[in-house]
Amino acid sequence: MEERLQKILAAAGIASRREAEKIITAGRVRVNGKIVTELGSKYDPSSVKISVDGNPIKAETKVYYMFYKPRGVVTTMSDPQNRRSIADFVQDLGERVFPVGRLDYNTEGLLLLTNDGALAQALMHPSHEVNKTYLVKVPGIVPQEKLDMLRVGVKLDDGMTAPAVVNLRSYEHEHNFTLFDITIHEGRNRQVRRMCDAIGYPVRDLKRVKMGPITLSNIGRGKFRELTDGELAALMKAAKL
Ligand code: URA
Repeated sequence: MEERLQKILAAAGIASRREAEKIITAGRVRVNGKIVTELGSKYDPSSVKISVDGNPIKAETKVYYMFYKPRGVVTTMSDPQNRRSIADFVQDLGERVFPVGRLDYNTEGLLLLTNDGALAQALMHPSHEVNKTYLVKVPGIVPQEKLDMLRVGVKLDDGMTAPAVVNLRSYEHEHNFTLFDITIHEGRNRQVRRMCDAIGYPVRDLKRVKMGPITLSNIGRGKFRELTDGELAALMKAAKL
């Protein structure tokens, strides 16, 4: 993915973005052997040779993590309301990563973190229709006709939802709740919560358990792990990269 030269230098740990701008305008940076002094210039760091004062910069290696986001955490790097954010967890990684998509403050589960902008963009693009599966707990015993409504599509204020795959997991009569999973490929804001509101059964607990070929597994709440080679290959295939 193309990025501004100052951003590439900053990501490679050469200097802050502001300092990198000074280094560029001072004529100390070469791209494929030619001095570049314009600040707006954009390059794909994986396909050009960049050097500072004659020393090649080390390309940022791409990293891919699974994160089990707990409830009560915002999917941003900072929060104006000072709530816990994923930045509090990412700090321990010592790498610059960002989340692929987002989960609501009160939704827990699978979140992918990477520094691979091209992958993130491809996975989020609606044309790729990456499936996301959520485990849903709602109070009450949801009749099959209502689950069928989710399967067919429900009317939300931003239009009908596409058909979803819904599997009833259990009716917990004693504790009066229903557990089911739902798979959608759209990525509208608060979509699962709004779909459940629309059938009259507001969500109590929501957990993302799968995204494309990646299943939340072998990981504790609030923890990370690197994707395995197999998971990464499957993810690249899903993103059509
Ligand atoms: N749907 C929701 O309602 N919330 C999420 O966090 C993800 C999907």
